[in-house]
Amino acid sequence: MAIHGRTPCQGERAILNLTDSDTAQASTSTLASSAEQASDDAISAEIQSGLNAEARHINPKYFYDEYGSQLFDQITQLDEYYPTRTEITILTRFAEDIARATGRGSVLLEPGAGSCAKVRLLLEALAPACYIPIDISREFLFAAAQQLQSEFPHIPIRPVAADMQADIQLPDNLDGIPRMVFYPGSTIGNYTPAEAVEFLRHVRRTIGDNGGLLIGVDLQKDPAILNLAYNDAAGVTAAFNRNCLSNINTLTGANFDPERFRHIAFYNESEHRIEMHLESDSRQSVVIGGQSFDFKKNERILTEYSYKYTVESFAQLAAEAGLHAREHWVDEDQLFSLQYFTASLGQPLVE
Ligand SMILES: C[S@@+](CC[C@H](N)C(=O)[O-])C[C@H]1O[C@@H](n2cnc3c(N)ncnc32)[C@H](O)[C@@H]1O
Repeated sequence: MAIHGRTPCQGERAILNLTDSDTAQASTSTLASSAEQASDDAISAEIQSGLNAEARHINPKYFYDEYGSQLFDQITQLDEYYPTRTEITILTRFAEDIARATGRGSVLLEPGAGSCAKVRLLLEALAPACYIPIDISREFLFAAAQQLQSEFPHIPIRPVAADMQADIQLPDNLDGIPRMVFYPGSTIGNYTPAEAVEFLRHVRRTIGDNGGLLIGVDLQKDPAILNLAYNDAAGVTAAFNRNCLSNINTLTGANFDPERFRHIAFYNESEHRIEMHLESDSRQSVVIGGQSFDFKKNERILTEYSYKYTVESFAQLAAEAGLHAREHWVDEDQLFSLQYFTASLGQPLVE
């Protein structure tokens, strides 16, 4: 993840170089969406490739159209789903400590910002020079950013609708303002450890030598707590899981019947990860981008991993990406962690 061109905070035109072949030009107020520009064909090809693989899978980014983002917000309110409220407790309790560790006045970037709810708890303490939330769910992001801007009129807020897995390059000319990436929600857990190192290397390149990373990481714990969190009684997680099929239908004209796929979620103890799958309730065929896919009864499509770490195991992973563990904060029950890394071991950020 990196953004290329002049920073939106500087009030000039920005150029997002999302991929070599997909360059978006945008004004400061409405930055173009790479997701929008990705052609139906490219999306069909990505879905086809996942379904042609030996272990069928769909990228979890397809959960998140506007409805998917709303469902995710509902999940965060569920009794069974401890991560969000626990991370909020940590952020609320330690906001000043965090600001002391990270310094104030950086350019604050948040990939996968969603509703921008968590950053609210830090904005006063961190007093960023500019806040740049990045998300693939465009309408949801822009509405959230607009609301946030009205609450924090003194902080420039510049949303970027983009796929953070593409290369979004940050300009070198940020007037020397250190960059901090805020990546809460344990979204890092959706990557395999090898992919997570790759993503963290992107972050390391984005923040340069004097930047930081503040990241929410879900911790290993009693599997019963984990299994409940991803199998809520109200079925919101099941609806969220199936929504990727509806979203793919909308994006590509495919003909999935989401109701014919069961939600399956369980903790894989040896791999330290939650696995979410969609399981075909019968033999069926689905056409995507002109290619037909046959599903056997009980055949599964993997839709999401959510890896769980210890503070130490995550610090080791980050070290592989050139990030040094500086401080971490956990809740009393040790369910969730917020961890701070810098690119170098020198003085952190501004102040
Ligand atoms: C698990 S939610 C976390 C939301 C928020 N950061 C939080 O902590 O509550 C993941 C967010 O990442 C966004 N997202 C998922 N894949 C993405 C991608 N490839 N590029 C940009 N945003 C993505 C989703 O739209 C969603 O808002």
